[in-house]
Amino acid sequence: MHDETVTVLENRKVNAKYFKISFRSKHLASGVEPGQFVQIKVREGWDPFLRRPFSYYRIRGERIEILYEILGRGSELLSKLTKGDRLQVMGPLGRGFSREIRGKKRILVGGGVGVPPLVFLAERYGCDRFYIGTKSRHEVMPLSEIRKFHSRVFHTTQDGSYGVRGLVTGPLEVWFKKDDFDPEAYFIQTCGPTRMMERVMEIASHFGVEGEASWEERMACGVGVCLGCMVWTHYGWTCSCTEGPVFQFEETPPRETWAVR
Ligand SMILES: Cc1cc2nc3c(=O)[nH]c(=O)nc-3n(C[C@H](O)[C@H](O)[C@H](O)COP(=O)(O)OP(=O)(O)OC[C@H]3O[C@@H](n4cnc5c(N)ncnc54)[C@H](O)[C@@H]3O)c2cc1C
Ligand code: FES
Repeated sequence: MHDETVTVLENRKVNAKYFKISFRSKHLASGVEPGQFVQIKVREGWDPFLRRPFSYYRIRGERIEILYEILGRGSELLSKLTKGDRLQVMGPLGRGFSREIRGKKRILVGGGVGVPPLVFLAERYGCDRFYIGTKSRHEVMPLSEIRKFHSRVFHTTQDGSYGVRGLVTGPLEVWFKKDDFDPEAYFIQTCGPTRMMERVMEIASHFGVEGEASWEERMACGVGVCLGCMVWTHYGWTCSCTEGPVFQFEETPPRETWAVR
């Protein structure tokens, strides 16, 4: 893990939802697996005090790209940076998605800010099918960003303006219900809003498909010190920043049972 000051190479809007920022670092780019993340200090000084976590989106040699959405003040400040600005970045952090999936075919299911690490995964290790859910066509990833595997992508939009209308789990369930679907042949890797991932896990459990989910909890330190990112697992409370963010489906019980621990 490294903590260094990098220089912004590019920071631009990709579509109505995402910005893309890139910088170069030999150390931050080495040995990274999809699903791992960096902690970015979006501005020099004490305000904002906490760094913000972002998944690796793409690595080309020593060039690193992060795809991000503006949610609050930190990401807003990040979006204001321009070429040549300096940025403090720590990484790679956490445990990413499994590369070896017992010889099974990879199904990816992503929504919201969970899509970037799955794009990285698909580009690096391939995928059989990639389900991406967005609110409307304005948020759909430009073809240039998913060129390598676009023919395997199934889009859903909540307003029906692109792809299938509805939630991303709809077409997944339709496919699983087909007579020739073999649950043993596939492995799901998912990242996105909690409700989406919980529904993916419910469907997977019903049909007997294995998989893993990236729980992008709110994080403060990112290195296992503050205990602000705990996830309830069958072996107890666990730091998602160090033991995750990726967990096997069977490791994490439904979230509504967490509060009573
Ligand atoms: C491991 C990990 C990887 C991530 N990867 C990406 C990425 O690749 N691209 C990206 O755009 N974002 C990613 N995020 C989310 C990103 O960290 C938050 O969007 C960011 O910290 C928000 O900071 P802010 O100051 O802009 O907003 P804040 O003012 O801190 O929050 C604004 C709003 O966003 C919500 N929010 C903040 N963090 C999260 C979160 N983790 N999950 C859900 N809602 C949140 C808050 O509840 C609040 O409603 C990731 C988060 C984690 C933990
Ligand atoms: S974010 Fe501090 S322990 Fe995980």
